[in-house]
Amino acid sequence: MTFRKNILCIGAGYVGGPTMAMIAYKCPQYKVTVVDIDAERIKQWNSDDLPIYEPGLDEIVKKIRGRNLFFSDDIEKAIREAEIIFVSVNTPVKNYGVGLGMAADLQYWEKTARQIRDVSDSHKIIVEKSTFPVKTAQAMERILTSNSSHVQFDILSNPEFLAEGTAIKDLEYPDRVLIGSRMTESGLKARDELVEIYANWVPMERIVTSNIWSSELSKLVSNAFLAQRITSINSFTAFCEKSGADITEVARAVGMDSRLGPKFLNASIGFGGSCFKKDILNLVYLCRYYGLVEIADYWESVVRINDYQMRRFVLTMLGAMFNTLAGKRLCLFGFAFKANTGDTRESPAIYISRRLIEEKVELVITDPKALANAMNDLKGLEGKISYIEDPYEASANCDAIAVVTEWELYSNLDFKKIYKNMVKPAFIFDGRNILDHEKLFEIGFNVFPIGKPALTHFE
Ligand code: UDX
Ligand code: ADP
Repeated sequence: MTFRKNILCIGAGYVGGPTMAMIAYKCPQYKVTVVDIDAERIKQWNSDDLPIYEPGLDEIVKKIRGRNLFFSDDIEKAIREAEIIFVSVNTPVKNYGVGLGMAADLQYWEKTARQIRDVSDSHKIIVEKSTFPVKTAQAMERILTSNSSHVQFDILSNPEFLAEGTAIKDLEYPDRVLIGSRMTESGLKARDELVEIYANWVPMERIVTSNIWSSELSKLVSNAFLAQRITSINSFTAFCEKSGADITEVARAVGMDSRLGPKFLNASIGFGGSCFKKDILNLVYLCRYYGLVEIADYWESVVRINDYQMRRFVLTMLGAMFNTLAGKRLCLFGFAFKANTGDTRESPAIYISRRLIEEKVELVITDPKALANAMNDLKGLEGKISYIEDPYEASANCDAIAVVTEWELYSNLDFKKIYKNMVKPAFIFDGRNILDHEKLFEIGFNVFPIGKPALTHFE
């Protein structure tokens, strides 16, 4: 079969995999290839057991794999054949040198840019899909044009706004698709080619174009706003716990203001995930670089309050359980950074687990999808933690349960049965407010929600 175009994605991760699956699914006329330097990951994408868990992804991949969706580790061949190349490699926070812990580590991205330059022998459109610092496209242009051949490249920025756990829905019905380009003749032509791909399923009024720097910055600003919103609601939880107000009632009242809206106001133990903290710190680093100290401090405080919220959760447990956790058995319900994903990157559960181990807790962790990642995140603490998939078994003989991830299955458990098998007095710390607190209290638990007064059987 001949295809109208060859699309390539470099980086078969949480963004590249699902995004390319959706493009291939909606555009049978294009051949879509996804490559990765990690050959093992590619093997998994070609197997029955995909490397990431995302509701709805399996069905789509299995339907179209081998039709117009291909996973390969032959990166050079794929680059040569492609007309459009999405770059979706990881850009973690730097853990060395200048910008340590703040700036984006661009080494993977730069290797990719050089490889594209060295291998290409025909015109290509390069699409930045990963979240990059503003002006990365310019650096990419400079690398790509720094060779002796006359191959021409057009760079576009097309940030991904999907959220994990709802990636397939987000990709199928996006709020918007943003495409940034140079305003030159060839830049605009490249932009139109990308618009044409998305127009196969996204209504034209949702495809937004802009200059390339606005597009790069919009992604960082969106994530900063979203994270700030969670931090804003979380910042009132301690106040509620002290004053007798209920954060859920407050959020409902606030969210009914049509200027604010009801979404993303769920109080929690803090946000996690690979994007929010990284993108804000990256923004803070860029602000400092440009000498915008006040702006940097403002955004950095979002991350500081988020850290405080995680710390506070552990201190609440310590305070509630008579100021000592040593030797007590405590079960974490959930480890993923949110429900419906096995991803644990920057999950508050990592910090909470480490702190609890410092307090000499015997820790049990249960999660339907994230136990393998949890074991990896907590390497070095073997022997101090048990990993048990069944929540009934996991919570047996425990003094306390802490809900860390809002998996729906936790709200449907038989808590009478759980209570019976726990050490008394039994405690529940609901870090996500997903349980029926009154009912738990009636069963006999001492209940500590987030942002609501505790329900205890003590004087
Ligand atoms: C985020 C952005 O939503 C997405 O647009 C961007 O492309 C990538 O970063 P993601 O990190 O996958 O997506 O998940 P998201 O749903 O935004 O949740 C992030 C964190 O915030 C999770 O830990 C979640 O539990 C927490 N959260 C979210 C809350 O604590 N309360 C809320 O009301 C919403
Ligand atoms: P994201 O959440 O942004 O998708 P992931 O870490 O899930 O991030 O995925 C990024 C992928 O990019 C990883 O599978 C990694 O192996 C891959 N990768 C990194 N550098 C390169 C490279 N130079 N060439 C090909 N793939 C790469």
